[in-house]
Amino acid sequence: MARSKGIKVFAGNSNPALAKAICRILEIPLGQARIEKFPDGEIDVKIEEDIRGVDCFFIQSTCPPVNDNIMEMLLFADAAHRASAERITAVVPYYGYARKDRKDEGRVPISAKLVANCMVQAGFDRVLTMDLHAAQIQGFFDIPVDHLYAAPVIYGYFRDIRKRSGDKNITIVAPDVGRSKVARGYSKRLSAGLAIVDKRRVSGEETEVLDMIGKVEGQTCVIIDDMIATGGSIVDAAKACKKFGANEIYVACTHPVFCGPAVDRIKSAPIQECVVTDTIPMEGKEFPTLRVLSVAELLAEAIRRIHFSESVSLLFKG
Ligand code: R5P
Repeated sequence: MARSKGIKVFAGNSNPALAKAICRILEIPLGQARIEKFPDGEIDVKIEEDIRGVDCFFIQSTCPPVNDNIMEMLLFADAAHRASAERITAVVPYYGYARKDRKDEGRVPISAKLVANCMVQAGFDRVLTMDLHAAQIQGFFDIPVDHLYAAPVIYGYFRDIRKRSGDKNITIVAPDVGRSKVARGYSKRLSAGLAIVDKRRVSGEETEVLDMIGKVEGQTCVIIDDMIATGGSIVDAAKACKKFGANEIYVACTHPVFCGPAVDRIKSAPIQECVVTDTIPMEGKEFPTLRVLSVAELLAEAIRRIHFSESVSLLFKG
């Protein structure tokens, strides 16, 4: 059943292009809100239209500048709650701090849980997100979470490449053991082979490849990861594929965080094409072999379904 006073979609400053694309698909104007910084760096939010009784969605990726983007989101929830919105959904295409999802040593925070706590406390009623670094982060929220996958968009792209080239020797490569389940899903859908890079993380910026499990020799390899941050993992995996005899190497991820040396590393690696989605804006970071696919349709359809209380998981059936 449609909610009583309709739907409004607002956006923070993290990804205005994606927010506009979602609104175009939903055929509604982007909600009017002013989100600015005071001279001392504090953030101020003013919702410029009446939202009493409205089903509100706030689109914000918590990509760099991570802390500002999180704060914008929390302040929006507080403002919307105090303005008597009927329901407030955080649409977080990329959820930052997700890699800190457990205590892997003493005296460290579980940052992904803290951010979830803050969002609930600030007034969000539900969350719509995509390709969380670890699916169990959904459980950090004591409110409903709809977790989408960019996979249909990404494998659709590689299915088309495969059709055009007629190449049968495709192998999906997981850049580490943690990604092997996702990679197996891709390999099934594309009827492709599967290989796994045995990787060890040396530091925040450096990784080391120990071995390759599976055959990449003579193959067109597609390395799939959830995110590229400094590019260390994906570039090491690409170099390993080359070393073990791959013909061509594509890399793909949902979240192009692209910080530090990522762009330079990817440009100078043996990578045919780097395929990413627009959960994070790429303005100013483009390079010739970068291909950006849009997840706006998926997010727009999920927003529509949430508003009309329709199944979101049905989006991924078949
Ligand atoms: C690791 O578990 C993740 O899936 C990514 O492989 C990693 O976080 C990417 O970071 P970077 O690009 O800095 O290696």
